[in-house]
Amino acid sequence: MPMLTIMPSGKTVQAEVGARLLDAILASGEAIQHKCDAKAECGSCHVYIHEGRKSVSKIQRTENEKLDSIVGVSSKSRLACQTIVGAENVTVELLGFSSGF
Ligand code: FES
Repeated sequence: MPMLTIMPSGKTVQAEVGARLLDAILASGEAIQHKCDAKAECGSCHVYIHEGRKSVSKIQRTENEKLDSIVGVSSKSRLACQTIVGAENVTVELLGFSSGF
């Protein structure tokens, strides 16, 4: 089972392969915004993935379009609601900003 490390707290929990990253973060007890209910519309679940980027699901068109409109996007950016956990460990950073939705 892959381990999910959540920054900045450093909390590490087990995650299920195939789980939505947003759900895995919420299940860990960490707070993350998800204002559009996981529809890739609000950008509030924007995170950076520092490790394990290759093992998670690929960015699809709707996620890519939303990321394009978000301030602070980097090559590590993902929407947690659109990212599926793969077989490898993941380190994710929760961010204090979003699209301003
Ligand atoms: S919850 Fe709105 S984009 Fe992820």
